[in-house]
Amino acid sequence: MAFATRRFVRAASSTAATAAAKKLIVKHVTVIGGGLMGAGIAQVAAASGHTVVLVDQSDEILKKSTKGIEESLKRVTKKKFADKPEAGAEFIEKTLKNITTSTDAVAVVHSTDLVIEAIVENQEIKNELFKRLDKFAPEHTIFASNTSSLQITQLANSTTRQDRFGGLHFFNPVPMMKLVEVIKTPMTSQKTFESLMDFSKAVGKSPVSCKDTPGFIVNRLLVPYMMEAVRLFERGDASKEDIDVAMKLGAGYPMGPFELLDYVGLDTSKYIIDGWHSLEPNNPLFAPSPLLNKMVEEKKLGKKTGEGFYKYK
Ligand code: NAI
Repeated sequence: MAFATRRFVRAASSTAATAAAKKLIVKHVTVIGGGLMGAGIAQVAAASGHTVVLVDQSDEILKKSTKGIEESLKRVTKKKFADKPEAGAEFIEKTLKNITTSTDAVAVVHSTDLVIEAIVENQEIKNELFKRLDKFAPEHTIFASNTSSLQITQLANSTTRQDRFGGLHFFNPVPMMKLVEVIKTPMTSQKTFESLMDFSKAVGKSPVSCKDTPGFIVNRLLVPYMMEAVRLFERGDASKEDIDVAMKLGAGYPMGPFELLDYVGLDTSKYIIDGWHSLEPNNPLFAPSPLLNKMVEEKKLGKKTGEGFYKYK
């Protein structure tokens, strides 16, 4: 009897192990947030054959998102199918057919494999969304956030599926940028991590993995670099123009740090550095800059407001 029980336990646990080892192949994706990032993510997912539901707060926003996707697809297709316009038109039609829209996230998550959240960068609003969706999404569904600066672990803790929760950090513009950072928290299961890596490859990206650490890889290196450039300028050690020229010609960077700050938005950079500073107040790499703070206060936010470190017409 004891032997039979042992054999049964062994058989049951090996079946469970096989099921646990089986990765989820993502077919249906729900993207929440149809802004700059969410629309791009929906586009690349649909273009690679996934069915996508794009969710935002109003039909008006979603109309804008869909129009943006259509225009972006036309640009991509012009290059990709330069000699075959008919195949290009077919590709656009097929991709758009894979995308539907909704203003009700709860109503659409019941049949999704993967929820990718790309809404406003606010911990409480994101937590509230994940907590709500956790109740309605199927057991197998993986949740992922595209956050740039919040902790994935804290977002995962707003749900009961911490093992099926990770970060999928895409880059702007999504259809052009090849990188995705796949973030594994201490609670993310290996199976979930592998499904997220596979999904990133399936949408044509080159994923890298990183633990749940501020800024992951790219921003962890890039943001302190930009802040150090501001401090160099603030001390009067060099002009912003010379710093930009130096990094382009001396380091081979396509943009100087001030051009990049203006492109990213000074408010976004300040938001990120302030968040990290509150997490690690003694880390000099995360120290706020009085100059950056003053410029944000004056609404000199970069390209989007017509003036940042440089002026734009
Ligand atoms: P965005 O402002 O262009 O778009 C956010 C969208 O979310 C808006 O359309 C808004 O209506 C919608 N939204 C807000 N709350 C919502 C809710 N509760 N339910 C449904 N929709 C809601 O923002 P963006 O730039 O696309 O950023 C989104 C996320 O991606 C943020 O977490 C950001 O940190 C991250 N990210 C941004 C990058 C960038 O370069 N902009 C790069 C990588 C990540």
